[in-house]
Amino acid sequence: MNTLIDTSRTVGDLVTEREARGDVLESLGIDFCCGGRRTLKQACREAHLPVCRVLDKLAAADIAAADAPAVNWSRASMSDLVDNIVSTHHVFLRRELPALYARIDKVCLVHGDAHPELLEIRALFRQLRRELEDHMAKEEIDVFPACKAIELRPAAARKEGLAAAIAELETEHARVGEAIHKIRHLSSGYAVPADGCRTYKLVMEGLARLEQNTHQHVHKENNILLPKARRKL
Ligand SMILES: [Fe+2]
Ligand SMILES: [Fe+2]
Repeated sequence: MNTLIDTSRTVGDLVTEREARGDVLESLGIDFCCGGRRTLKQACREAHLPVCRVLDKLAAADIAAADAPAVNWSRASMSDLVDNIVSTHHVFLRRELPALYARIDKVCLVHGDAHPELLEIRALFRQLRRELEDHMAKEEIDVFPACKAIELRPAAARKEGLAAAIAELETEHARVGEAIHKIRHLSSGYAVPADGCRTYKLVMEGLARLEQNTHQHVHKENNILLPKARRKL
């Protein structure tokens, strides 16, 4: 068994240290963003996975990523982390959400009768898109500038209302996680049926990419940025 990773550390912490570990946990169905405060041991138990198997996979990912420059965002400033979140994840969502919705709509027209679950996925996705757009606006207009200000001039920064705004973002993250989980379930893990066309395949690939990107996105906010901001209040 690999013993380099301490199983009493939280899964959020482990991914913060090395982003590639998130892909391993993702592939095993272990939530590291909204469920990032659980220890690795706990998370394995809840996912009914042997700890040694998970440790071996994490160790393999560490070896594979050893030459790649690893960014540990917990050591970065809140300002740099906010800029990374916006330029990486918010830009991704603003590009992907409309394009993916158009494709889901098209697939519903062609395959909706044979695969009625697509109609449910479209309704969930429409709601998810609206919520994510409102959520990102709230972050960019309100909470992220407050995080930057609190870091630069803690004494002068606006603090009242920030704790409540942070808690609200965390609640919204949990809701986003639930919606994505439902979409995964309805699509049987983003499976393409035998009669699925090329667009159907692109939709499933797009949904899987959305899930993966959103888990890293929410991880950076829930497990690094927002706790850091809370400590400054
Ligand atoms: Fe965000
Ligand atoms: Fe967020």
